[in-house]
Amino acid sequence: MATFGERIANFFGGNDSATQEGLHGLFVTELKNIYYAEKQAVDALGEQADASTTDEVRSAFLQHQDETRNQVTRLEQVFNSIGVDVEEGACAAIDGLADDAQLVVSNTESGSLTRDAGLIIAGQKIEHHEIAAYGSAVTLAQVLGYTEAARLLEQTLDEEKNTDKKLTALAESFINSRAASESDNDSYRNDNDRDDYSQGGVVSPDGTRYSDSSYGSTTSTGSGYTNSGTGYTSNGPIGGTSGI
Ligand SMILES: [Fe+2]
Repeated sequence: MATFGERIANFFGGNDSATQEGLHGLFVTELKNIYYAEKQAVDALGEQADASTTDEVRSAFLQHQDETRNQVTRLEQVFNSIGVDVEEGACAAIDGLADDAQLVVSNTESGSLTRDAGLIIAGQKIEHHEIAAYGSAVTLAQVLGYTEAARLLEQTLDEEKNTDKKLTALAESFINSRAASESDNDSYRNDNDRDDYSQGGVVSPDGTRYSDSSYGSTTSTGSGYTNSGTGYTSNGPIGGTSGI
């Protein structure tokens, strides 16, 4: 039986068809999952833009929504470049991250900067997921010799990284400090209970704020969230081209 080293040498020498087929299958599955995730991201970005407080944050989400539509088209080009039918897979991660973004909206006061800070954090979580997914996909494409696919995927990877940086800059420029100075305890409701949310227990139907102290959180909770989001980002993007 070949040693692991021999198998790697065989693979890169084009003599290990089983590994080649396995990685090809993995690559196609990843592509389908990213394709599904990007389509969900288009919707999520629209919802985040609608819920935003400031024009700056709204336009950042709308701009990336446009970019994401192009990314969907670019993924179709990737499928075509390797002769595989365009097809959506599944991605529980994006489903959960989009749910988290909705939770930010239900937990924050309409018109508050805390909401924008929360939306930026939720947006960055989506970007970080995409950066990891695209970084891995680029690496797989390169290993498999899919040059055109790697080029296209790298283009999107760069866009995702730029969006992440833009969101950090937005948060640092004014959203964080102004959100921290919002003088009430009502702009953030510390409630992550999705069951309550689905039963309508968190958000008042007419959008009025809760007076129930059980939902009250402190300003420091809100700003702490924001700061940790920014700190996370300043550690640099995860994934990258060596994501696997
Ligand atoms: Fe994207």
